[in-house]
Amino acid sequence: MASSTAHPETHDGPHARDVARRLLDSSATLSYDPATEVDWETPLDKDFHGASPEWSTLYGTAYWREMTDAQRKELTRQEAASVASTGIWFEMILQQLVLRDIYAKDPTQPGFQWALTEIADECRHSIMFARGARKLGAPAYRPHRIAVELGRAFKTIAFGEAAYAAILVAEEVLDVMQRDWMRDERVVPFVRTINNIHVVEESRHMKFAREETRRRLARAGRLRREIHAVVIAIASYVIVTSMVNEDVYENAGLDRKRAVREARANEHHKSLMRSSCAGLMEFLASAGLLTRPALAFYKRAHLI
Ligand SMILES: [Fe+2]
Ligand SMILES: [Fe+2]
Repeated sequence: MASSTAHPETHDGPHARDVARRLLDSSATLSYDPATEVDWETPLDKDFHGASPEWSTLYGTAYWREMTDAQRKELTRQEAASVASTGIWFEMILQQLVLRDIYAKDPTQPGFQWALTEIADECRHSIMFARGARKLGAPAYRPHRIAVELGRAFKTIAFGEAAYAAILVAEEVLDVMQRDWMRDERVVPFVRTINNIHVVEESRHMKFAREETRRRLARAGRLRREIHAVVIAIASYVIVTSMVNEDVYENAGLDRKRAVREARANEHHKSLMRSSCAGLMEFLASAGLLTRPALAFYKRAHLI
């Protein structure tokens, strides 16, 4: 495809150069080093939640009402750790997508330098999430085998708008949760700091992902757009369904079967996802990516 060649005539246009330059400036002005910004020293205070309780997959269910306050807090800590671990998995995929995208392109371009800046951000984020999950007292949460293999294929072959729109979806879904958690005084302070760092740095990534998605789509033919719309929707489905690992219930001392059953039927959680993803869906619609077959996956994932 034209978008992946390194010929001078296919250099980023003036608009894309401007965007990348502004993102680089913003990154120089406000970026964080989680190794020093996050309080890693203070021992975990179990009086706090790991996430806003309203974001728990069990919030609003009969099971939730039966749980003690301590159980609810343990559950949200395990859920926050699972989201962080899934975040690491996304970030590994998107670092490779971005690195593949800039392979052998012109390093003097701001877009190239911004891409490397984004990869460096993600690298720091993943270390931060790994330390955070550990501090929350959680084991390694990894996605299902099928999701892992789909991710392996995606990071190896996805390109253009498929890569950037999938990156955007992962970042937006994390963003809506983390915006709530970072402001919530019931959430343990070090997790609030982690979420704050992530929200600030990811807002630049999302800007870039939206720009790149539009730019790549402008060069895409109809068939390519139709195919990529479905690919992006499947990626979104896998992303959303991998967010909370079902092991969290056992690790929070709950009955796994009952918890999974009630979480899957949890209308409160589904409507929370739908309302928080409204902006994302609007963007995908405006980009022409909400095709009929794609819509089926977004509905199944309760994103719309
Ligand atoms: Fe990140
Ligand atoms: Fe990101």
